[in-house]
Amino acid sequence: MLILNMKKFYIKTFGCQMNMHDSEKAAGILKKEGMEQAESHEDTDIIIFNTCSIRQKAEQKFFSELGRLKRLKKKRPGLKIMVMGCIAQQMGEKIFKKAGHIDCIIGPQNIHSIKDAIDKNIIAALDENPAIAETELPADRKEKGRAWVSIMYGCNNFCTYCVVPYTRGREKSRPKESILKEVKGLADEGYKEITLLGQNVNSYRGEGGFTGLLRELNEMEGIERIRFVTSHPRDLSDGLTDSIGRLEKVCEHIHLPMQSGSDRALSMMNRGYTYREYKTKIDKLRNSVPGIAITSDIIAGFPGETEDDHKDTINALKELEFDGIFAFKFSERPGTKAAIMEGKLPEGIKTERLSEILGLQDEITLKKNKALEGKVLEVLVEDINKGENKEGHLTGRTRGNKIVNFSGSSFLVNKLVRVRIKKGMKHSLLGELLDENG
Ligand code: SAH
Ligand code: SF4
Ligand code: F3S
Repeated sequence: MLILNMKKFYIKTFGCQMNMHDSEKAAGILKKEGMEQAESHEDTDIIIFNTCSIRQKAEQKFFSELGRLKRLKKKRPGLKIMVMGCIAQQMGEKIFKKAGHIDCIIGPQNIHSIKDAIDKNIIAALDENPAIAETELPADRKEKGRAWVSIMYGCNNFCTYCVVPYTRGREKSRPKESILKEVKGLADEGYKEITLLGQNVNSYRGEGGFTGLLRELNEMEGIERIRFVTSHPRDLSDGLTDSIGRLEKVCEHIHLPMQSGSDRALSMMNRGYTYREYKTKIDKLRNSVPGIAITSDIIAGFPGETEDDHKDTINALKELEFDGIFAFKFSERPGTKAAIMEGKLPEGIKTERLSEILGLQDEITLKKNKALEGKVLEVLVEDINKGENKEGHLTGRTRGNKIVNFSGSSFLVNKLVRVRIKKGMKHSLLGELLDENG
């Protein structure tokens, strides 16, 4: 039965910040079309899954949630289920084989046509969209202080383990003027912090390049903080490093995925840099940007990774002392080069290596956070602290992107304040509010 007056949609998002921002765009479009966003999958006409296929686990999580909806769909045949995002793009109609109870599939490059896909039960709107960078989509943002802004789409790097170039297509940069216009609008609405999004922001090819873009955004009245993810070590130039130090609104934090400390593994991954080159960039960053927080991603147990390669990674973590890392066991992704490489490691070894990496980094992170004790830092208040869940407990982030919890009243949410750090812990800092004007 076709429901003509589709009213409510519910979106469940998996994956990275790019996907979360895509969900904001999907919601923005659907609301413009007169639909309403539902709070739960119980109370909606359409359930949209915005999916991630970066690792097997992310994929499994989605399929198990989807499986649980079979009964609901039987009970309410009018309910529609849409699959969007990276699994949609990668699997296309094959999703039906695993789950026959879905109605439409749409890839991340086709969000502009989401309403049509829903209305017409379109299966597999998966075409490469060359106009994606020029298309302006309205985003329905939930937060009022911080906003994501897309500056580029896709990825050309083809790291051998990664699905992103297959799900997001070729790299395309959004025109500078369009970015500036969006950020100006955000500043006018009262947003204080923007995070520029792209798989490889350093290779932004709009007018003036990435450094030029940062320079112009730094002049934007009302915006107080500028962040960006993700940077590729190969494309991080000295000019950009200098700019991060010089431009006062650009936060002192960079996420610079290293993946491995072994040159052999880095080469098998097709990362385009050696450990020495990576370390030189870190040294320059620390010289040019005093106090910069550096975070990274690590893959444990890449095919062919030897005990020595793993030791190189352990030594690199000790030498570089990141502020934090995300580390993952290598996960085989269909269609990637690494999936057909020799030397796959048993799960047990991958688990062992991962836990050694995480154990070591926990100590380093704690040490780094403890070093902040006694310091006075600028914090953008994000919310009432949900853990405490009561009035008077706030949570926010430093310019170095560290979470700080402290006492203060809720009218400070979305404001910049100064906080003295009292205690550094493994995952966050405890602080004390000094004043309310930053
Ligand atoms: N574009 C970003 C991030 C890509 S995905 C970048 O290049 O850094 C985020 C992280 O997921 C990667 O940095 C990598 O560490 C991890 N990752 C990607 N594919 C993976 C795979 N097949 N197995 C394990 N980890 C993976
Ligand atoms: Fe994946 Fe590499 Fe592109 Fe990052 S740079 S999205 S890891 S292919
Ligand atoms: Fe992001 Fe996952 Fe796709 S990490 S780009 S949503 S595969």
